[in-house]
Amino acid sequence: MSTPHVVVEVKDRIARLELSRPEKRNALTPDMYLALASALERADAAPEVRAVLLHGRPDCFSSGNDLKDFLGRDPDAADPPAFRFLTRIAGTRKPIVAAVGGPAVGIGTTMLLHCDLVYAAPGARFQLPFAALGLVPEAASSLLLPAIAGYQRAAELMLLARPFDAEKALAAGIVTEIVPEASLLSHAAAAAARLAELPPSSVRLTKELLKRATAQAVAERMEEERRLFADRLASPEAREAITAFLEKRAPDFSRFG
Ligand code: COA
Repeated sequence: MSTPHVVVEVKDRIARLELSRPEKRNALTPDMYLALASALERADAAPEVRAVLLHGRPDCFSSGNDLKDFLGRDPDAADPPAFRFLTRIAGTRKPIVAAVGGPAVGIGTTMLLHCDLVYAAPGARFQLPFAALGLVPEAASSLLLPAIAGYQRAAELMLLARPFDAEKALAAGIVTEIVPEASLLSHAAAAAARLAELPPSSVRLTKELLKRATAQAVAERMEEERRLFADRLASPEAREAITAFLEKRAPDFSRFG
């Protein structure tokens, strides 16, 4: 699956994946998820690829799932493209380096929990807005975030569902390092180049060992969240939240019990 909104380039043993849908702040559509999933699958299978570099535009990583698409999504779909992408990114054996500038909302933040090195510009702005959208967390973030950030920090980010800055993301363990905006991409590319120089089997085995204790639990939580998320998506609370965003008004949850 290819789309103009995901640019894929393989060069110098690095697969570079760029999110590029600037007119909608890199909101992710089904085609984009499928393009990302297939690019990750190809990168994992290709002997000449040693690392993946994932980034957005300098001023925006991703505004998360396309909210218009949420309204039209079939809640009973067995294998939605977003889930296919998440399963793939969680299972990628080669190291993934992410560079984040500007907003990284929803899946724009949760996908980072499945990357190995995450560099963020000082102006990067993260958000886990699921509770505010009438939804629930995804990508096993309800398991991974408390594990890396501690319960209280994770609860603040997920229950209040407010945007947070790069310093807070660093303190929560979502981000590896904050890097000046002008050198963000070159810094992340240099880390990917370093990974591409190292003995490939050793790098893959190290990643597998690092993830071994959590891999099964992550897969199970991801599946559980997927079911809850699909139910929530059809709920009047989510409909109100999403419609309000698209209509550029504040949501009103006062009628819900
Ligand atoms: N889905 C669909 N369209 C989106 C979108 C999304 N997730 N995020 C932004 N857009 C669209 C806007 O509707 C707007 O479209 P328009 O020009 O046709 O009106 C355009 O992208 C620009 O968005 P805007 O909100 O004006 O940009 P901004 O720079 O002021 O704010 C964000 C950027 C990311 C902070 C803000 O767009 C936002 O909060 N988006 C929603 C994030 C979200 O809740 N994602 C779902 C996660 S589960």
